[in-house]
Amino acid sequence: MGRFEGKTVLITGASRGIGLAIAQAFNREGAKLILVARNRGPLARAAGQLSGTVMNRPTDVTKLGEVKQLFAEVKKKIRRLDVLINNAGVFTFKPFAKTTLQDWQRNIETNLTSIFLTTQAALPLLKQSRGEVVNILSISSRIPFANCSAYTAAKYGALGLTNVLRRELRGEGIRVMAVLPGMTETRMKDEFNFPVRSEDLLQPEDVAKAVLSALSQPRRVTIEEILLKPSAGPFSGEN
Ligand SMILES: NC(=O)c1ccc[n+]([C@@H]2O[C@H](COP(=O)([O-])OP(=O)(O)OC[C@H]3O[C@@H](n4cnc5c(N)ncnc54)[C@H](OP(=O)(O)O)[C@@H]3O)[C@@H](O)[C@H]2O)c1
Repeated sequence: MGRFEGKTVLITGASRGIGLAIAQAFNREGAKLILVARNRGPLARAAGQLSGTVMNRPTDVTKLGEVKQLFAEVKKKIRRLDVLINNAGVFTFKPFAKTTLQDWQRNIETNLTSIFLTTQAALPLLKQSRGEVVNILSISSRIPFANCSAYTAAKYGALGLTNVLRRELRGEGIRVMAVLPGMTETRMKDEFNFPVRSEDLLQPEDVAKAVLSALSQPRRVTIEEILLKPSAGPFSGEN
């Protein structure tokens, strides 16, 4: 029997990269999966390879109306939510002077506002199940890197929000955790304007393993934050 048998897990940004790896890991452990991303085709392909999928729902998590509709459907059709994984994200690599207002808003809305919207909409179901929230943040939530102003502002904000949520929701029996990956081999790395070698990066499944390990702790334990870095290479130090 899997560690998450009988649990329902909703993952945003589940169509590829880290979100898909998290979905695969929960699938192996017997969870029921609700998969969310904007584009229908890749989301349906992800759902097709995961036997535990009970819903795959194209949703833009930056849009209040779409998020409300998603959770109304989860409430009506699935009637339960144990784990919310806020993973959807975008990244812009540009000097501050060249960062447009559109870049800024896209980063803030996808990496920060989406967590506000989905977590608020999920709360009634999470209160019922005394559930858990895992926010996939970034090493950029703690360490500022040049050419990542919009992303860094959003990820610092998302860590602040996560820390407040943990305090507020403790009384409801809801655990709130943050996972902060360093450079990971996903499509996101294509945004860099310099070559990046696979062997210097984390793999999406490394992040998934950290998420499942945090959630596997006894309920009396909250792993508040996990910071993951490659063990060697150019991204293993302070940057
Ligand atoms: N890769 C890294 O080096 C790295 C390092 C640290 C942290 N992270 C964080 O890890 C998370 C996942 O990143 P990744 O590297 O796996 O990226 P990715 O491969 O680009 O995947 C991003 C996922 O998010 C979805 N998404 C984007 N905008 C969305 C929106 N508005 N509404 C719903 N879904 C949306 C995408 O699908 P659609 O485009 O179809 O919506 C896709 O499924 C992000 O929060 C990222 O900041 C990544």
